[in-house]
Amino acid sequence: MINGERLMIYSGEFHPFRLPVPGLWLDIFQKIKALGFNTVSFYVDWALLEGKQGDFSAEGVFGFEPFFKAAKDAGIYLLARPGPYINAESSGGGFPGWIQRTRGHIRTSAPDFLNAVEGYISKIGPIMAEGQITKGGPILLLQPENEYSHPEDGHVLDKAYMQAVEDAYRKAGIVVPFINNDGLNYGYFAPGTGLGEVDIYGHDSYPLGFDCSHPYNWTGSYFPTDFYAVHEQQSPSTPYAIVEFQGGSFDPWGGPGYDDCAILLNNEFERVYYKNDYSFGVKIFNLYMGYGGTNWGNLGFAVGYTSYDYGGPIKEDRTVWREKYSELKLQANFFKVSPGYLIAQPHNQTNQSEYANTSEINVTPLTTNLTSFYVVRHTDWTSTATTPYTLRVPSSAGNLTLPQLGGSLTLNGRDSKVHVIDYPVGSHVLLYSTAEVFTWTSYGSKTTVLLYGGPGETHEIALETDAHPKIIEGHIGKSKIAGGRLTFQWRVSDQRAIVDIGSLTIYLLDRNSAYNYWVLDLPAEDGSRYSKSDPVIVKAGYLLRTADIKTGMLALTGDLNATTSFEVISAPTKVDGLSFNGRRASHLEESHATGAISAVVEFEVPKSHIPDLLSLHWKTVDSLPEIQPSYDDSKWTKADHTYTNNTETRNLTTPTSLYSSDYGYNGGSLIYRGHFTANGKESAFSIQTQGGEGYGASVWVGEHFLGSWIGDGDESHFTQNLTLPPLTRGKPYVLTVLIDHMGNEESGPIYSDTMKMPRGILDYTLAGRSASEISWKVTGNLGGEDYQDRVRGPLNEGAMFAERQGWHLPGPPTDKFSSGSPSAGVSNAGVSFYFASFDLDMPKGYDIPLSFVFTNSSGIPYRSQLYVNGYQFGKYINHIGPQTAFPVPEGILNYDGTNYIALSLWAMNSTGAKVEGLHLESTALIQTSYGPVELSPMPAWRPRPDAY
Ligand code: GAL
Repeated sequence: MINGERLMIYSGEFHPFRLPVPGLWLDIFQKIKALGFNTVSFYVDWALLEGKQGDFSAEGVFGFEPFFKAAKDAGIYLLARPGPYINAESSGGGFPGWIQRTRGHIRTSAPDFLNAVEGYISKIGPIMAEGQITKGGPILLLQPENEYSHPEDGHVLDKAYMQAVEDAYRKAGIVVPFINNDGLNYGYFAPGTGLGEVDIYGHDSYPLGFDCSHPYNWTGSYFPTDFYAVHEQQSPSTPYAIVEFQGGSFDPWGGPGYDDCAILLNNEFERVYYKNDYSFGVKIFNLYMGYGGTNWGNLGFAVGYTSYDYGGPIKEDRTVWREKYSELKLQANFFKVSPGYLIAQPHNQTNQSEYANTSEINVTPLTTNLTSFYVVRHTDWTSTATTPYTLRVPSSAGNLTLPQLGGSLTLNGRDSKVHVIDYPVGSHVLLYSTAEVFTWTSYGSKTTVLLYGGPGETHEIALETDAHPKIIEGHIGKSKIAGGRLTFQWRVSDQRAIVDIGSLTIYLLDRNSAYNYWVLDLPAEDGSRYSKSDPVIVKAGYLLRTADIKTGMLALTGDLNATTSFEVISAPTKVDGLSFNGRRASHLEESHATGAISAVVEFEVPKSHIPDLLSLHWKTVDSLPEIQPSYDDSKWTKADHTYTNNTETRNLTTPTSLYSSDYGYNGGSLIYRGHFTANGKESAFSIQTQGGEGYGASVWVGEHFLGSWIGDGDESHFTQNLTLPPLTRGKPYVLTVLIDHMGNEESGPIYSDTMKMPRGILDYTLAGRSASEISWKVTGNLGGEDYQDRVRGPLNEGAMFAERQGWHLPGPPTDKFSSGSPSAGVSNAGVSFYFASFDLDMPKGYDIPLSFVFTNSSGIPYRSQLYVNGYQFGKYINHIGPQTAFPVPEGILNYDGTNYIALSLWAMNSTGAKVEGLHLESTALIQTSYGPVELSPMPAWRPRPDAY
């Protein structure tokens, strides 16, 4: 119950840290709200907030007040999941790099680890507490930890740790219920289980897994059938909660790309798998992800690349035209108007033949004293067959076989439906509907119901009435009036039908047309958009965001991608005027038949100029001066620790630790310099580096390039055996090793501490010499954990010379650089940086998302980072991929002013590399009420006196 309202929590996951533009958070919230969802679940990424232990900062793009405010403005509740552990395909699973230096096991009550956790919670806890609903904020629930579920073999879960995390949150002022996210339904920490128990038990489930390379293949997938039964054993006193259900998938380096994930986890997946979850009576349902976003600035874990699109319902560029977005709208709205579902008793799935006339069809009932819901799917849920069936179900009018008027129902392949029996709509009751209910409203004496079906399907409804049906629009099929009951059938087509039965108006839609209807809550008197009553139903197009009615004028806001005809299907008060995005529709039509008003809103194609990137005036600078004899590394960090705490995943095998996090370098890239004096006999150097999946490494002795491990997307570490050129006896040499740091590993299994897998040099041999004859220095980002750029956070920068100087920031001192374009590139192995700026003057009133697109045919091994106004928004690997297009949101891009871009080019072969193609591309042209988008803070370059 939320403020006296019994709600199903229907939620989508969205991570503010993956969209570092507070000015766009309301956009995402509105797009989720427009689906009929009421909640968003979010993680907090500790690694971005406490880059140095004890130095916590949650300001600007990392702030929470604007996130809470945007949620409230949209009328969205929040499920807060601040960790400490989150997983989430984030570097370290959300643990800051310095956690690698803790001695005790992570995610246990080992004192130094717990101390770090309690320090973090003492900072993040009060921020979350301020956002709680009890203080007028949007937060309903808080999830401590995440998937605290998988102890390594030979271990048990440290329940005292879970309890300590909870105690710390309570101490910080959290009063809302705790919910957990068990890594499947193991029953851990359910109420009544003692130490660490939560208030509401919840778990996650990803039945199709994370391999998008066979996007049409569901075979071998796991299909839950007993979730309700297990829930009743584990946590009968709490509403059944699936805190993460699969809404897409992540994709690895070299993977098939997110468009394939969007196919694998598409609208069909949603229909079959989500309806299966409803058959278990799920009451708290969160889809991971609702909007994925971007792993900008090195925040991702090693396995994943920059995009975190996730194949989710809202694309990374924030567009909503994936069909899976529209399908969710049909499902969420149904539950919003079906209070019976919340009290229905789910039945188990095994007793199939009782309801359908064929064993090909599986039926799961949910029943109440009045209404029942029958969830229908193929017994073989992967089936692509079209299967005719009839349904035999009990009802208030006795047992019924549906359809009643002859013929049969059909279930298309990879489809599932919810048939309703004795379903109340206003003061009427549908005896049954085989077509699915999208929504209904009841105002005064008039009730409006929207039903929909799949293409070509036959459907039937019946209700007790003496009234004769009046066809207002389109046509229906057979009908029968007998004994006070009206029954009629129709065949679904893209020509809608409208039938009046007394005071009841029924719209019969095909699914594709239903996608164009929007159900929008009107604000309460105090302006709050949390209310779920009194919505308007409007047929429109691409997106509707908000509705208000004042003195007969319905004011809508939203987005268009084409000229669109609007039709007001239902409203709580009389509507005789319509405005869209503040403009009053001049030509209103009123339908004689339905009384609905309609208007056409023109889409106007704006003029926009998108600059040609490669013809900009580029400046370039060498970014690997470290290999030159004159280079001075006296300010570098000496890698001289003879001891490391980080021995969980491997023992130290070098005289001093060369693990980057031992020296405070936790992301981006790493450079090592190894000094030695030659004896003239060294002929080979072998080095084992570890940078995480997708990484690569290049090695030089003096200015002489020894070779690269270019990486293959899978190997997280590699040993290079390199041949040295003749070295001069008695002469000092420097080995320079550049290593890509792809992010730290996650740490799922408890006690395995995989997050501590070090980055940097693991081992080396200089043939004929003892290892201790090389003395090493190391750098990562300038300052390490005392990071320079407090605005863009602790992980945005890497070790490269130009990054250490801060030249990736807006306004670098390019007058000192030479002219040179990335398309000319370099002819040696090495690192160059390229700089350019361009102005944008994008039209107001439009959302025109832009992507930076690399087009290369050569496959030459190089790595590139893209900085836009100082924010690293792309890590491109030419020979691994798959990502070539890098969306950069408005707010990071200045749509009304100057933009600075910097591009690194790390050529990994001795023959060099060039960026063959790079252009800016718009991925959509949307006329919108949203905007202008406030720019994220983007402080400019200032000289860094301590930079080396
Ligand atoms: C879950 C985890 C999430 C995310 C997801 C895969 O198990 O809780 O944080 O990692 O897997 O995308």
